[in-house]
Amino acid sequence: MRSHDRGHVERVVRLARYIAAREGADVEVVEAAAELHDLARGEAGHARRGAERAREILRARGHPEEFIERVVHCIEAHSFSEGVEPRTLEAKVLSDADKLDAIGAIGVARAFLYSGENGRSLEETLLHFERKLLALHERLHTATARELAAPRARFLREFYRRLVEELGFPGGRGDWGDAEGERVQ
Ligand code: NI
Repeated sequence: MRSHDRGHVERVVRLARYIAAREGADVEVVEAAAELHDLARGEAGHARRGAERAREILRARGHPEEFIERVVHCIEAHSFSEGVEPRTLEAKVLSDADKLDAIGAIGVARAFLYSGENGRSLEETLLHFERKLLALHERLHTATARELAAPRARFLREFYRRLVEELGFPGGRGDWGDAEGERVQ
C-alpha cells in the first residue's frame, strides 16, 4: 500500500462517479479523468504532466477531441497547489473527489503512509494536518462533496486534537509547535 496507489485511484473514481451523478455532471468525462488523474504523481507539476499523458492515452483509445479536452481540463485543474482553477463542473467534481480521499479515516491513514514514504516525523505530519488537511473541506466546490466531507472533517480534527494532546503529555507541546495550545478550534 502506498499513499497514491491503485486503491486511491479506485476510491476517487467511485467518489467522482457518485458526486457527478448527484450534481448532474457528465459521468463519462469525470470517470475518465478520475482514472487518469494521477498518472504523473511524484513528478513536479504532476497535474499538467498527467493531463498531457492522459491526452495521448485517450487519443490512442480513439476518443473525440472534444471529449479529450474536457477530461484534460479536469486533470490539469485537480491539484490546488498547481494553481489552475477548475472551470467546468466536471473539473470541480474531480477536485472534490480527490480531496475527500485526503480527509477522514482514509486521510489519516494516507497522511502517515505518505510520511513513511518521505521520511517525515510525527510532528512534521501534524504540521501537514495544520497547513493543508484540516482546511481541505473548506475548499470543496460542490454541495454533495461538502455533505460527504462534514463527518470526515470532524473525525480528522478529533484525531489531530488527540494526537496533539498525547504528544504534549505531560507538560505542553514541546519544541515543535505552539506551546499556547491548539491552533485549530
Ligand atoms: Ni489523487
